[in-house]
Amino acid sequence: MATLKTNVLGIDFENPFILASAPPTAKIESIDKAFDLGWGGAVFKTITPDNLEMIEASQRYAAWKVGHRVCGFENIELLSHLTLQQWLDGIEFLRKKHPSKVQIASIMAPVVKQEWQNLVKTLNDTAIDAFELNFSCPHGMPEKGIGMAIGTSVEVSSMITTWVKEVAQKPVFVKLSPNVSSIVKIAQAVENAGADGFAAINTVQSLMGIDLDTFEPMPDVNGKTTYGGYSGMAVKPIGLRCVAQIRQNSNLPILGIGGISNWHDAAEYMCVGADVIQVCTEVMVNGYGIIKAMKSGLLDYLEGKGFASPADLKNRAIANLSTHESLDKTRRAHPEIDDSLCARCGHCVTVCDESEHSALSLVDGHIVVDRKACVGCSLCSHVCAKSAIRMK
Ligand SMILES: Cc1cc2nc3c(=O)[nH]c(=O)nc-3n(C[C@H](O)[C@H](O)[C@H](O)COP(=O)(O)O)c2cc1C
Repeated sequence: MATLKTNVLGIDFENPFILASAPPTAKIESIDKAFDLGWGGAVFKTITPDNLEMIEASQRYAAWKVGHRVCGFENIELLSHLTLQQWLDGIEFLRKKHPSKVQIASIMAPVVKQEWQNLVKTLNDTAIDAFELNFSCPHGMPEKGIGMAIGTSVEVSSMITTWVKEVAQKPVFVKLSPNVSSIVKIAQAVENAGADGFAAINTVQSLMGIDLDTFEPMPDVNGKTTYGGYSGMAVKPIGLRCVAQIRQNSNLPILGIGGISNWHDAAEYMCVGADVIQVCTEVMVNGYGIIKAMKSGLLDYLEGKGFASPADLKNRAIANLSTHESLDKTRRAHPEIDDSLCARCGHCVTVCDESEHSALSLVDGHIVVDRKACVGCSLCSHVCAKSAIRMK
């Protein structure tokens, strides 16, 4: 029998699914409900010193949808609106009611040693299990010199990590930004400064779109907007890449985040090094209830593979990530057409022709592959509306 239990830096997780720092963890009552429904823990909406001004814009969200499905989500939201005292009371309430759930305090403060250390010292005396340093919010906060302004600088992120580690009595995870040319450089810098682990990724800086009648960008804040943070299914490949790159360069624990919408995504993150999974957008668009299928799906998968726990899955794909130069280029894949599914629309023929290779043709109602011309790129298999083409 497999278990979903896992242990990271001495912290016991009853399952590896926790809520990311975001609206689903902005209120104590909501976190209480999420714990009742089975989430293994929560990273609180980022806590700041009470005097840090937090005035929200409206609208603050925009979405890229395919049909009714939110695939990409942009926000220009700021941080927690609860006071520090409300968090202190909330943490105590949650610990009493949910003794086995993991509570992680996400924090951010101005770049002043005393401000960071005061926040940490106050939270040290609570029942939280760890800190997560938000060095990565891409909107609003960078204008004040914090958020992503910290996480894009090796010097500032190392300095603040050192300040925090001087006083923190709980493990310290640093939440990294994908909006850098090398996430590894920042990860290495904060690891050298004493970080105990990483959380990756925060949102990807974005501009959702422009209304072509009014020329107003989205999300529309009285006709204007600012660059926001992109999240949800669309960012999974970016998060997965970031986590893999961090894992290839560090053995510290990683809280994997970014576009995780089901157990399958979670398992992929684990394969590239994530110890625990955080979810935000999928919960915002579908509710806390998704945890049930996530837990049962991952457990079934682990059992099917003969793994005892999530720890057995960790890093399984890392050895298969390599440089382009070292990839085996001696063998080519070729498309195989399933005639029973093929609609004979000729779309694959057109795109193959117009994207360089001209290896497909429609002959007597069948798609024919010219193996000499085919380079095995796989484009045809991705554009087929009937999923009639498989690469072999
Ligand atoms: C509306 C919204 C608010 C967020 N607020 C915070 C925040 O306060 N602190 C933080 O560290 N990350 C914040 N995030 C980022 C998420 O924690 C997460 O890193 C990101 O959304 C990627 O995960 P996802 O694709 O599962 O949403 C926020 C994300 C969204 C969508």
